[in-house]
Amino acid sequence: MLYDPPPMMVLGLETSCDETGVALYDTDRGLVADALHSQIDLHAVYGGVVPEIASRDHIRRLLPLVSQVLAKAGVSRPDAVAYTAGPGLVGALMVGGGLANGLGLAWGCPVIPIHHMEGHLLAAMLEGDAPDYPFLALLVSGGHTMLVSVAAIGHYDVMGATLDDAAGEAFDKTAKLLGLDYPGGPLLAKLAEKGDPHAFKLPRPMISRPGFDFSFSGLKTAVMLKVRAAKEAGDLDTVRADIAASFQQAVVDTLVARTLKAADHLGVDRLVIAGGVGANRALRDALQEQFPGRVYYPRIEYCTDNGAMIAMAGAMRLSEANTPNEIKAMARWPLQELSIPAEQ
Ligand code: KG4
Ligand code: ZN
Repeated sequence: MLYDPPPMMVLGLETSCDETGVALYDTDRGLVADALHSQIDLHAVYGGVVPEIASRDHIRRLLPLVSQVLAKAGVSRPDAVAYTAGPGLVGALMVGGGLANGLGLAWGCPVIPIHHMEGHLLAAMLEGDAPDYPFLALLVSGGHTMLVSVAAIGHYDVMGATLDDAAGEAFDKTAKLLGLDYPGGPLLAKLAEKGDPHAFKLPRPMISRPGFDFSFSGLKTAVMLKVRAAKEAGDLDTVRADIAASFQQAVVDTLVARTLKAADHLGVDRLVIAGGVGANRALRDALQEQFPGRVYYPRIEYCTDNGAMIAMAGAMRLSEANTPNEIKAMARWPLQELSIPAEQ
């Protein structure tokens, strides 16, 4: 008779940036409960994330969210605690890592350090209609832009990455230039709905270069010049939505062209879109329309940072669960350094 492992409950903690996320994942039943607190209001007045404020708010929110999730699930203690160990803001990561290890000691259960981008990469598997391996992932967040060939968990080949700004960073910086609040990405996308995407001619960086890398700083400079010219002409208010729409179109065209080229090179017919910019409707629609195979993405709330993806990644890396003895918090952590988990 085959050994049938008992179901395990994994608590996941996400505190790498400006969202406090907690979730409980059952290896048999999937996601059981989750909760999220966004710090957007706290950072908005500063126009960007203030690391010290982020850490302090994670401290305030994390434990109450843990109690809330456990109560919602009717569970008194999980079998393991997974936490985001990087990449991210070190002070913020230390809050999640510190509590995960503390809870692990108190509950006598193991802890699992998780790579934030692996969480994003696998988030589409939280959905009922999960992609099979292998697939190509377009990972577009505030700090990263990558095309990753995924053969299985831990088998990641980063085919291309950004040489300068990440896609989300380009959205946020352009939004700032247009006078929009933080976080600019979603606000710029909303403004773009009212504009003409062909009103302004903007570059599609790297689109015809060999390889699969990205670059967005030239596009940002081109937008800056348009904004400056509009300000000097005194008509920024009239063209703001057109600039937003033209910028979004340029980013979407660039991401789509590179993604289609990478998929063609690999010969894969499954594409996963992940990370905060994956919430962008124009990007989803364009890929849905132009990708010849099937496109998978997590629901909008699991595109941006959340605890569910960390709890699920923890469940997939249970073989790496350790007794709590070291708090891992890494500002940088290349995805390529991840191990291939042992068979569970
Ligand atoms: O994945 P995420 O929540 O955090 C990181 O790991 O970085 O991504 C946040 C990024 C921000 O730059 C935000 O502006 C962008 O995702 N973003 C969007 C949209 N929603 C979030 N960018 C464009 N369109 C959106 N709808
Ligand atoms: Zn993220």
